[in-house]
Amino acid sequence: MDKIVIDGGRRLAGRVRAGGAKNAALPLLFATLLTDKPCTLRNVPSVADIRTTRRLLERLGGSVDEPEANTLVLDCAGVDTQEAPYDLVRTMRASFLTLGPLLARFGRARVSQPGGCAIGSRPVDIHLAGLARMGAQIENVAGYTEARCKRLKGAYIILEMPSVGATENLLMAATLAEGGTRIENAAREPEITDLADALTAMGARIEGAGSSVIEIEGVDELGGYDHPVIADRIEVGTFLIAAAITLGDVTVEGARADHLGVFLEALSAAGALVEEVPGGIRCVNDARAKAVDIITAPYPGFPTDLQAQFMALMCLADGVSEVAETIFENRFMHVDELIRMGASIRLRGGHADVTGKVSLTGAPVMATDLRASVCLVLAGLAARSRTEILRVYHLDRGYQQIEEKLSALGADIRREKA
Ligand code: EPZ
Repeated sequence: MDKIVIDGGRRLAGRVRAGGAKNAALPLLFATLLTDKPCTLRNVPSVADIRTTRRLLERLGGSVDEPEANTLVLDCAGVDTQEAPYDLVRTMRASFLTLGPLLARFGRARVSQPGGCAIGSRPVDIHLAGLARMGAQIENVAGYTEARCKRLKGAYIILEMPSVGATENLLMAATLAEGGTRIENAAREPEITDLADALTAMGARIEGAGSSVIEIEGVDELGGYDHPVIADRIEVGTFLIAAAITLGDVTVEGARADHLGVFLEALSAAGALVEEVPGGIRCVNDARAKAVDIITAPYPGFPTDLQAQFMALMCLADGVSEVAETIFENRFMHVDELIRMGASIRLRGGHADVTGKVSLTGAPVMATDLRASVCLVLAGLAARSRTEILRVYHLDRGYQQIEEKLSALGADIRREKA
């Protein structure tokens, strides 16, 4: 098991490039199950969740090659089973995104239910309700979802809440259904739009992706795609906060301001100078952050995946800020670890009241989930003395070479065997 060691207090400055978005690449990879033609995916981040997805697609009978770094060539012509097994799904709940494509292309699927994870119970009822509306016969047997349907039929579906995964599963399923599908209260995240762009390149007929109403006219079969993954807006936000928390000056290349919306306003309200520059976004900060209240919400609201990172900044802000988490019921595991570093945070239900301190002190801390672990990296960059972060396999699920990227910006950070 590795650990990350940071000697804090160094100012970050320079340019860093954001990698491809993990949360766009995952559905894009599962979309290849919809066709027997080869697909090329570019700008794929080299992170653990992508490796898990490759294993799952190969387990299903697909082939995945990597002709060059961060480019995958996939061919699911050879898919000969429609069962996504528990041992892979339990490590990555996004594997549930095999359900829609397998059902749409083969008329049947047996996918292990993802179960809970560190940040919450993570049910899939909205996915299943939508597929049932499209005519699927669904049974949940011994921890597996078994779905059958000779051919899905287009349907009028209203999502109970704008679930990202449910929108992706249903969007993919609808591309091969008979007739038209209308999804209302759909998720609007940029990752949905990126998926719809690739599906359209495959021959799907989709209108409205990125809005809360998506309309799909089913086709009989789909071709392949050659598609670059959008930049990871959560990694972009993480580096912008790294600049703000170390009173630095960092430009993140490949970043799109329209993918970060409310988050950039919150970072500016905290006193950082945030501006779009040619090819990216620059963040400069030269004073202690101001306290800013945030409430997470579906896109284009404040992203829940940046809540922990922003809280790290608020731990050093001048004043009290309220951080409200409305998407997941247990996404405050980073709070106890931040308190070990001297932060002053009081939890009450889905809210955290953060009283900013003048400084944090490095300490041995434990990563608990992907975004909580990077929050501890940010706190360690700003803290005095040394921070050691254990269980960094959480970090490796979604960040490619983050210690190299931060070292290049001036951080004193390294990975060691724990
Ligand atoms: C995606 O998860 C992301 N994962 C998450 O990122 C992200 O936090 C989340 O969207 C919200 O933006 C990927 O894209 C692989 P949801 P997903 O379905 O699809 C409830 C990260 O750190 N819900 O929008 O699982 C659910 O319990 C990860 O990269 C139902 O009740 O998110 C949760 O409270 C973490 N029933 C809320 O909706 C359902 O059928 C949001 O879930 C589905 C979801």
